[in-house]
Amino acid sequence: MPPILNGKRVLLGVSGGIAAYKSVALASRLTQANAQVDVIMTASAMKFVAPVTFQAITQRPVVHDIFESWHDAGRLRIGHVALAQAADLFIVAPATAHTLARLALGMADDMLSITALSYKGPMLLAPAMETRMWQHPATQEHVARLRGWGVDFVGPAQGRLASGEYGEGRMAEPEEIFEVACKVLGRGGPLEGVRVVITAGGTREPIDPVRFVGNHSTGKMGVALARAARDLGAEVVLVHAPLAVHPPGGVERVSVQTAQEMFEAVMRLLPETDVLIGAAAVADYRPVSSETTKIKKMPGQQIIRLERTPDILAAVGEMRGPERRHPRLVVGFAAETDNWEQNALEKLERKNLDLIVLNDVTAPDSGFAVDTNRVTLFERSGNREDWPLMTKEEVAQAIMQRVVARLGRLDWKKR
Ligand code: PMT
Repeated sequence: MPPILNGKRVLLGVSGGIAAYKSVALASRLTQANAQVDVIMTASAMKFVAPVTFQAITQRPVVHDIFESWHDAGRLRIGHVALAQAADLFIVAPATAHTLARLALGMADDMLSITALSYKGPMLLAPAMETRMWQHPATQEHVARLRGWGVDFVGPAQGRLASGEYGEGRMAEPEEIFEVACKVLGRGGPLEGVRVVITAGGTREPIDPVRFVGNHSTGKMGVALARAARDLGAEVVLVHAPLAVHPPGGVERVSVQTAQEMFEAVMRLLPETDVLIGAAAVADYRPVSSETTKIKKMPGQQIIRLERTPDILAAVGEMRGPERRHPRLVVGFAAETDNWEQNALEKLERKNLDLIVLNDVTAPDSGFAVDTNRVTLFERSGNREDWPLMTKEEVAQAIMQRVVARLGRLDWKKR
């Protein structure tokens, strides 16, 4: 679970649209991440979903009456003021055209709008409405005005709408709203202004249109790193081969297939990269040629000739030179089955890395595809740390804390 939400107070405003039912899933996701969620419903939202549903999910009373008093820490306080003061984040999902208008005009005639007017922190809106309503100049003007005040938006997406039509106006999925909420909360964190490029997943080297040389990487480790960096305020680019897990929201994604494509993407991004982390399992070899049609079964053996792929981190290491000025920090992974320490130290040196994370990929609870990892960290200073078995999220958070500490020690200004 992302620690960014742990103990945070989130206001979830729900206005009256059919997507209100999806906000129940959002409330659940936020609550499971240990946030304290206070739901504020408009009168029309309560026609779509009963307040008791949110109450059961969040274990908190649902607020909708402007004149209701509110107990907080034993004191009787005015509801909207207390809610607004205590909140770390205000999400409105769904945000209907009417609610957007009221927020943009500073109206304060119900519990949602009056609390929004009393609130000063980060706000995230997830609009949901028919396409024509979304595209109407009035709505667009309200959106522009709210953006100008620093309000964040997620969606709306294209898709099937309540009317049965297809178009722009569908509320973003709860998981996406959740991910963007983490990003918004992470703003101003220790990696604010730092651009972190992370590689993830296993590259696929085509043999023919239906077959490839690949490996067992799912991308879990790289995706966890992307989330951890995002939640510390970094501007994250995830360069990923096919993933077996949901990609993280709130990060820029560059999708590739082969080692060559990953190499080119990283090289393109390099001038603007402050920190590079290589968590991808990049193929070291690819077929010398790839057939354009499916290879047919034939009697006897088939031999596929392989050639070397470019080594991304080694190329970056060479460009960095002995002073290793740019990117400021390069972190590699070593996936080893034997001679663990020796191989990891050789890669740290040869690829000119600042830090290498060794994982034993023969252990059943570590390395490829599993949710946990047991790693050893080697730094150029000679420092070595054996970390206990942790979830990949925890490993990622610990690596990013190390990145923060290392950048802090460098005489280097954020962009
Ligand atoms: O994706 P998961 O299922 O969660 O699994 C996670 C993982 C096991 C893939 C991950 O933790 C990991 O160890 N990634 C690196 C795998 C790897 O390719 O290791 P390597 O020892 O072959 O390469 C050393 C380093 O050089 C790596 O940082 C790798 O990204 C990089 N490399 C390798 C080859 C190449 N051509 N270019 C590279 O940049």
